[in-house]
Amino acid sequence: METIAPSQASIFVIFGGTGDLNRRKLVPALYNLFLDDCMPSKFSIIGTGRSTLSDEEFRQKLLDGINKFSRSGKADPEKWKTFSSNIFYQVSHVSDTEAYKEFGKRIQRHEKEWNQKACVIYYMAVSPNFFPVIAENIAKSGLANDPEHCRIVVEKPFGNDLESSKSLNKLLTGIFTEEQIYRIDHYLGKETVQNIMAFRFANSLFEPLWNRNYIEHVQISVTEQLGVESRGDYYDNAGALRDMVQNHILQLLCLIAMEPPGSFSADEVRSRKVDVLRAMRKFTPEDIRHSAVRGQYAKGWIEGEEVVGYRQEDKVDPKSNTETFAAIKFFVDNWRWQGVPFYLRTGKRLHQSSSIVTIQFRDVPHYIFPPEAIESWQQNRLIISIQPEMSIRMQVQAKKPGLDMLLNTVEMVFDYKSSYTSYTPEAYETLLLDTMIGDQTLFMRGDQVEAAWELLMPILTTWANKKSMSFPNYSADSWGPELAEALIAKDGFHWFALPLNGKK
Ligand code: BG6
Repeated sequence: METIAPSQASIFVIFGGTGDLNRRKLVPALYNLFLDDCMPSKFSIIGTGRSTLSDEEFRQKLLDGINKFSRSGKADPEKWKTFSSNIFYQVSHVSDTEAYKEFGKRIQRHEKEWNQKACVIYYMAVSPNFFPVIAENIAKSGLANDPEHCRIVVEKPFGNDLESSKSLNKLLTGIFTEEQIYRIDHYLGKETVQNIMAFRFANSLFEPLWNRNYIEHVQISVTEQLGVESRGDYYDNAGALRDMVQNHILQLLCLIAMEPPGSFSADEVRSRKVDVLRAMRKFTPEDIRHSAVRGQYAKGWIEGEEVVGYRQEDKVDPKSNTETFAAIKFFVDNWRWQGVPFYLRTGKRLHQSSSIVTIQFRDVPHYIFPPEAIESWQQNRLIISIQPEMSIRMQVQAKKPGLDMLLNTVEMVFDYKSSYTSYTPEAYETLLLDTMIGDQTLFMRGDQVEAAWELLMPILTTWANKKSMSFPNYSADSWGPELAEALIAKDGFHWFALPLNGKK
């Protein structure tokens, strides 16, 4: 693999250093970048948190995380030794200003030792209520004085609604320039998600068909078998709309619906995505009744194991009104998409963990074949499977071999497994490398986040104000509430799923 190691020294200061995200995702990603020679020759990772730990104890925790969660498996002892000599721990509380002075001193010590200025990346892997205090303390301690050498990474959720996202943007942009702010949406770092742009804009085949004249409807389905796991307290205040739709799913929709950008520059790409969000039809109370369905899971069986209902999960209100499932029909009101429905669905404890985008093309304008020639008939479909299967499938009609003219549906498949032997980097590897290089293409700009909140606010407010009387309304291992089927069935369609491991 060609190496693209950043030339500039980098220092990560990770708030939430002892947390799950750092152990499961961030440090394994940095370690894999290191194995692939994609880390700068000089780097340092300073984790910080409230627990008292020595550097060695901290490293051991991170090593356990790598051994358990890294795509490259257990760490190689020699490589780990070199990599981990760059990891340090500093005990601190986010509101303790002295700690920030200590970060400053550490940074200076590194820069002196390396004899060069480093790019310092402050990573907020903490609960969102700490984002403001961290940003303010970085500013107060003079750590944000050099915009060329300082970046801040903000994890989701970015705000809890339109108003809070606006105030967070206001606060951050009062301290940092937009070019210094990296708002993470890890879906954008996924290999298959990045490929949507390549597929659309590096081929001339699709663009002429990519509009209301040829596309009948679009489905984006992100289903999960997992429940809320240990995150009941977070999730019960979030729900499926905030957790998945406001960010990951609307970003997928933007990639499908955006106009071709003039270039692959961060701002061009992000501006075209904002255009989509702004063109999306606003929901009236009447639309919400007809076009949005919510659900909450009841107990059931998943893969032979009995699982509890959402209201029985740890740290969840036993009378919770939080949705663990959402299905919504959107429209994008512009020339390209007028009248084409975009159906989205997402939920926890569903039958399959799978993320797919399906584009269904219009039927042929006229049938020339007699009814007896049709063994099976399906309109053309393009299925972009994001995970777990990574593939793009084109479903077309073809003649079945034989003496008769008999038509059925066949697939042309581009499958990552058979097309590439190289490994697939994890989303966080791509995103962390981009923060070091300074490429914001795969990060959310402030106006994008706000436009997405603005679109969802009417549904969020309506659902919060009107408790669902039917919750829980779907059992674990199902495809969600029946009303979600009805939402799409009344337009004459049904939700598509790919059979996984032979399981439909
Ligand atoms: C996170 C959500 O952003 O994305 C989780 O908070 C969800 O609830 C996860 O499970 C899904 O990500 P992935 O990469 O597993 O599809």
